[in-house]
Amino acid sequence: MSDEQTLMDLSRKLLQAIDAGDWQAYASLCDDSITCFEPEAEGHLVHGMPFHKFYFDLPGGGSPRLSTIASPHIRLVGDMAVVCYARLTQKLDSNGSPVTTCANETRVWQKLENGWKHIHFHRSPA
Ligand code: GLY
Repeated sequence: MSDEQTLMDLSRKLLQAIDAGDWQAYASLCDDSITCFEPEAEGHLVHGMPFHKFYFDLPGGGSPRLSTIASPHIRLVGDMAVVCYARLTQKLDSNGSPVTTCANETRVWQKLENGWKHIHFHRSPA
């Protein structure tokens, strides 16, 4: 399998883990030193995993959601990769009607001794 195919598989697994609230799967794909900019961080760069674990630990199953990667672009730079795409998320609004939101994500991966690990991401508001 090419690095590009591997990175697409890992990117899909990452979003599936987020949608399913599967912390073990999410954490297994990330390096503990991950950094991010995401709307929840209010414009600040966040370091590490605890910020993300907060959302996985929230009570209740939550409503179903499905993320789809659209228009992906992958750039390999040595042992690093930059994966960009539009993330379409299907979910239910407060009335129970299906809605789709879209956010742009840039996710950086690094090939470490234990395989590709997610080390940084930036997500736009949806
Ligand atoms: N908020 C976690 C992630 O998007 O990776």
